[in-house]
Amino acid sequence: MDFPMFHLDWLNDRFLIAMIAIIHVLINHGIAVGFVPYITWLEQKGVRKSNPSEITNNQWDEMAERMMKVAFIVTTTVGAMTGVGIWFSAALVSPASIGSLIRVFYWGWFTEWTIFVTEVVLIMVYYLTWKNANRTLQSKLKHIKFGWYLSVFSWFTMAIIVAILGFMMDPGNWNTHHSFINGFTNPIYLPQLFFRTPTAMVVAGTFGYMLLFVFTKKNSAIRKNAIQTTAKWILFWVPFSVLGAVYYYQAMPAAMRDNMSTAVGTIEFQQYYKLLKYIILGATSSVFLVALFGWIKPEKVRWGMVFFPTLMAFSFLGIFERVREFIRKPYVIGGYMYSNLLRQEDYPLYQRDGILKYATYNSTPEITDDNRIEAGRNVFMLSCSRCHTTQGINSITYVFERMYGSFNKPLDESAMAAYIPNMHNGRTFMPPFPGNQKEAEALAAYIKFLQQSHETLEGAQTAGVVVNPLNNMNIAIQLQHTADSIKALKLAKK
Ligand code: HEC
Repeated sequence: MDFPMFHLDWLNDRFLIAMIAIIHVLINHGIAVGFVPYITWLEQKGVRKSNPSEITNNQWDEMAERMMKVAFIVTTTVGAMTGVGIWFSAALVSPASIGSLIRVFYWGWFTEWTIFVTEVVLIMVYYLTWKNANRTLQSKLKHIKFGWYLSVFSWFTMAIIVAILGFMMDPGNWNTHHSFINGFTNPIYLPQLFFRTPTAMVVAGTFGYMLLFVFTKKNSAIRKNAIQTTAKWILFWVPFSVLGAVYYYQAMPAAMRDNMSTAVGTIEFQQYYKLLKYIILGATSSVFLVALFGWIKPEKVRWGMVFFPTLMAFSFLGIFERVREFIRKPYVIGGYMYSNLLRQEDYPLYQRDGILKYATYNSTPEITDDNRIEAGRNVFMLSCSRCHTTQGINSITYVFERMYGSFNKPLDESAMAAYIPNMHNGRTFMPPFPGNQKEAEALAAYIKFLQQSHETLEGAQTAGVVVNPLNNMNIAIQLQHTADSIKALKLAKK
């Protein structure tokens, strides 16, 4: 309401955040949080396995170092960029929710930032000093220690962010007693952390499983050994990951579980939810099987066998993130702010007076016969555009046509106007309509107009903004007040 509305009409705004965030999580969990301890563990094993006359088993050490090189390059480039990208995209698409989150988690994010900077320094130290550290046993052991420090710091950044993700799903008693600690210790925090930590280890293990084929020679003793060691790593973490998943699922409020079927498969594939669920579980268990096989018969494992489970592990993590983002709907912050960026407690006012009146950037504070379509467009922008486009992904004309089965017929305006105020009852992932009846009618007229004209909707970044004339007047009055009081102050000083 207080921010200009950025909008991507072809891609869908949620998709922009999701794309960047999912790439970031895959890298963060699979190639940093889980991968660094795995590599450090391998490095340590190299020292343990070596002859007393050498510092480390050189071939083994080289393999670990090369694997770390991949992680170093990916995390410091795409990993870091997508991290910033999340801020950038979320601030554009969802400024009000980011604003609220910053107010609650200011010190959390501040701490996370200092830890993140330390993590970047440590990863530089760890990777860039690897070769030099091999000169003496003492420096090698110190180097391994840095690997463990880096592992702890990578985990800490995740542990702080997960608190915020849990908060968005269910703020717990923060909704009644606003405080940082109440927000941080939300009911979903620990369950999600218990799930994410071992899962990151498993996913990283599969990534290492695949990489080691690149950095070891066929039929070599090193390869066989590395396969077996990696298999053990994965097998160790899988049970914790499964337990974590169960714990997390139990902690999820019932309303969120109800959203699962749409979250996994969208409305179109909802009837295949069970099937999809089994496919996902089946595909993920291939990780366990290929690890078991590697443990028993390491010489028989081929790259081709490992590739599919690795892909599945990463896809599973991607799906998990999409589902997490989806199931908290209709809220962006549970029980506090809806995904359309409007606060729940402000709803009665909007539903009585209309949302247009209160929006800061809005050209139509009052609906007239002449401005109905434009007003409908503004209502759409304020109440539907965070999740729907006009002609792109999850387009508003398409969802109505599908619902009424009227792909080749004009949409029925009055049916839509009657449906809109009740849409949250049938589809609980949608927030209630925030406006009044007149606005629902204008919105319906606009949607019908969209169907006929195929017009697309431009966000504030291309269309610019118009300040609400009502609001404008308020600002003028406020400025006058400020000017008056400054004058009064000056007089008093004299
Ligand atoms: C929080 C995000 C969100 C908001 C805000 C939202 N929707 Fe939706 N809407 C969805 C999702 C997700 C679907 C389902 C898409 C799918 O799975 O195919 C949907 C589906 C629909 C459907 C089809 C329902 C059905 O049973 O097939 C209609 C109609 C609809 N939305 C209208 C609206 C209107 C009108 C607004 C604005 C007043 C709006 N939505 C706001 C997320 C949202």
